[in-house]
Amino acid sequence: MSTKTYNIRTAGQANIPVLGLGTWQSTEQDCVDVVSQALQMGYEHIDTAQAYGNEKQVGEGIKQSGVARDKFFLTTKIFPDDMKFQPEKLVAAAKRSLEDLDTDYVDLLLLHWPDDRVPLSETIPALCELQKQGLTRHIGVSNFNITDIIEAKKYADVPIVVNQVEFHPFIKQQTLQEFLNNHHILLEAYSPLARGGVFENDTIKEIADKHNVTPAQISLAWILSNKDRVAIPKTANPDHLQGNLDAINVQLSAEELEQIGRLARSDGRKIEHPDYSPVWDD
Ligand SMILES: NC(=O)c1ccc[n+]([C@@H]2O[C@H](COP(=O)([O-])OP(=O)(O)OC[C@H]3O[C@@H](n4cnc5c(N)ncnc54)[C@H](OP(=O)(O)O)[C@@H]3O)[C@@H](O)[C@H]2O)c1
Repeated sequence: MSTKTYNIRTAGQANIPVLGLGTWQSTEQDCVDVVSQALQMGYEHIDTAQAYGNEKQVGEGIKQSGVARDKFFLTTKIFPDDMKFQPEKLVAAAKRSLEDLDTDYVDLLLLHWPDDRVPLSETIPALCELQKQGLTRHIGVSNFNITDIIEAKKYADVPIVVNQVEFHPFIKQQTLQEFLNNHHILLEAYSPLARGGVFENDTIKEIADKHNVTPAQISLAWILSNKDRVAIPKTANPDHLQGNLDAINVQLSAEELEQIGRLARSDGRKIEHPDYSPVWDD
């Protein structure tokens, strides 16, 4: 089934298509091809980052797709290495991303991880300024805990529209989700397939069989059943692209949503804990 995603979630002035293509570990020609195919197929949202080392390939994929820049939502992230969150370096880093992506603007620019070495009182006004200058349409953060977001909001004079964090059926993010809801910030789910973990889970597999869909689609449908979330599954496999996109049409019953909701565990995080991780909320 071919699907066109007109589904969006809104935060502040940002209208974000619910399902984006993640590109971490998509490299070289595979990255060019998958981005191009995704856009041609109807994906309206692509997620990349400086740290993925593939912004040039994402840019090339966009070009090869022939899809006009204003027809999709593009996110990149600035990584806090080399003290890049200092205001002058932040501007230079954002400009370098735009150059590599071969675009005049991104739709969303995120701080990839918190960085205690540069105070948010300096970083956040600089990030806001990038939006005012039109280099990005919206700003957001990633891997921020509640304390970080409260601090960031003090210095932001434009809305922080997203916190991109790990989220899938095996992780608890309830405290953070409630906080984000109260502050009109979307939770953008990274690793929404638990990096493949959902394919091995009996509950998810049984529900998938009942609906005649894949476990990937069940995980994505469960995440997107909450209207305050968007998700960015990664694939570099053209065969998985369409199925993941079609997950937006899968409807789960209240009982199924609850069953999946009971899978969360306190040790359910999949990503490694880099030194710069914040203290997670739960
Ligand atoms: N902000 C951050 O710090 C942060 C951290 C991690 C990730 N992210 C973002 O979130 C995106 C997604 O997270 P992720 O890459 O960690 O993990 P993920 O999306 O949960 O899982 C990706 C894995 O699932 C496989 N896969 C995808 N669709 C499939 C399907 N339909 N059937 C079978 N296998 C499938 C992929 O392999 P194939 O390629 O072979 O399909 C890949 O091995 C990243 O690419 C990145 O854009 C952000």
